[in-house]
Amino acid sequence: MPKFAVLGSGFISDFYIKALQQYRQDAEIVIVQGRNPDKLRKFCETYHIPNQTTSMKEAVGHNEVDMVIVGLPNHLHLEAVDRCAKAGKGILMTKPLGRNAEEAWEMLQIVEKAGVFHGYLEDLVYTPKTQKAIKSVRNGAIGTVTWTRSRETHPGPHSDWFWDIEMAGGGAIVDLGCHCIEVSRNYIGKEIKPVEAMCWADTLVKPIAAEDHAIGLVRYNTGAVAQFEVSWAFRGGMDLRDEVSGTDGTIWLNHFLRTGFEMFSAPGQDAYVAEKAETGSGWLFPVGDEPVELGYTNMFENMISSFQSNETPDETFYDGYVVNAIMDTCYRSAKTKKWEPVELKEWRGEDDSSPIMRLREYDKEHYLIKEEKLPNGSVKVVLKNKKTGEFIQRNQL
Ligand SMILES: NC(=O)c1ccc[n+]([C@@H]2O[C@H](COP(=O)([O-])OP(=O)(O)OC[C@H]3O[C@@H](n4cnc5c(N)ncnc54)[C@H](O)[C@@H]3O)[C@@H](O)[C@H]2O)c1
Repeated sequence: MPKFAVLGSGFISDFYIKALQQYRQDAEIVIVQGRNPDKLRKFCETYHIPNQTTSMKEAVGHNEVDMVIVGLPNHLHLEAVDRCAKAGKGILMTKPLGRNAEEAWEMLQIVEKAGVFHGYLEDLVYTPKTQKAIKSVRNGAIGTVTWTRSRETHPGPHSDWFWDIEMAGGGAIVDLGCHCIEVSRNYIGKEIKPVEAMCWADTLVKPIAAEDHAIGLVRYNTGAVAQFEVSWAFRGGMDLRDEVSGTDGTIWLNHFLRTGFEMFSAPGQDAYVAEKAETGSGWLFPVGDEPVELGYTNMFENMISSFQSNETPDETFYDGYVVNAIMDTCYRSAKTKKWEPVELKEWRGEDDSSPIMRLREYDKEHYLIKEEKLPNGSVKVVLKNKKTGEFIQRNQL
C-alpha cells in the first residue's frame, strides 16, 4: 500500500481523502499541504493526518511518501508534476491535467521521462453507473456507438481562482467539459481518434473573461460524435447526465439530480444536501454516498491496484493530454465558428477505424433499411435494391 502526500486541502482534497479512507482504512496519508495554516490544522485533525505544511516542496519530499495526490488550482499542476517527478514519486493528478494541451504535453513528457507512476483522476469515468455502462458498451450491448451526449452544468465553482482565466486556463469548458469529453471517449472507445471539433462558447451571465456556457461536438474517426454541454450559470444544483446511442441500443444515465432519492422539506434543513445544491428546503435531491456515486472510490481502487501490480491505470496523463488537445480545438472553433482539426503531437490509438454503417442483407436483391410493427399488427419492411438503389416497402401480415 503506497503512502500518500496530498497537495491542496480544499474542496477536491476533502473528497479524495474521504474516498481514500472510506475505501481503505489502512490508507496512510502522511502529509497534507495547504496555504492557510489554521484551516490546514483543522483539516488534518478531521482526517487524523500526522503532518502538515504550507510548502509543496516539503510535502513532496517527505521521505515516507510514495505517491502524491494533486488537488491544487490548475496553474500549479505543472509545478507539482515537476517536483514529484524530480523526487521520483508517483503522481495522481486531478482534472484538468493542464490549462491547455501544451502544458499537458509537458507534464506527460516529464512523467514518462522520469518513469514515475501517473494517473489522471477523472472521477466521472469511475462512477458505478458509468463503469457498468462502459462494460455494457464494450460487451456489444448497444452495438457501435454513434453519438454520446454528456452534460455537466451547475451554478458555478466555489473558489476565486476558477474565475480567473489565467489561473484556470479557461471557463466552463476547461472545468466541466474535460469530464464530459473523457466520459464520451470511454464510450466511443479510447482507441478511436478524435478528428475535429465544433464549439459554441459564450459569456452570458458572469462578468468574466472566460466562457460560462458552451456546447461542443467532437467528431471521431468512426464518424461517431460526442456532444458536451457545460454551464457555470445553471440554476437548480448540479445536473450531471450522459446519453449513449448505439446502432443496437441506448443508455441514459442521470448521476445527480433525480437519481431515485427525492425529498420534500417545507421547513428545510441546515445539513449538507449534495454538491452544488442551491437550497436546503423544498424539493431536494440528496445523494446517498457522494464519494462512491461520483466515482472517487472506484477511481482510487483502480489507481492503487494498478500501482501495486505495476500496471497502467485506466486513466493516465496521456488521456489528460488528449482531453486538453480536444478542449484547445473547441476554443479555436468557438473563435472561428468552423470545424477545427484536433491537433495531437502523438496519437497512440488506431489510425484507421471501420465506419459505423453496416449493410444488413434482407434477401439476394435487397438490403434491409427498417422494420416496424404498425398499429394494425402488420410488420412493414423498408428495403433497398442492391443494384438500382431503389427503396421499396413491403407489408407482412
Ligand atoms: N470532480 C473533480 O475531479 C474535481 C472537482 C473539483 C475540483 N477539481 C480540481 O481540483 C483542483 C483544486 O480545486 P478545488 O476545488 O479543490 O479548489 P479549492 O480552491 O477548494 O482548493 C485549492 C487548494 O489549493 C491551495 N492553494 C491555492 N492556491 C495556492 C497556491 N498559490 N499555492 C499553494 N497552494 C494553493 C488552497 O489553499 C487549497 O487548499 C483543480 O484543478 C480543480 O479543477 C476536481
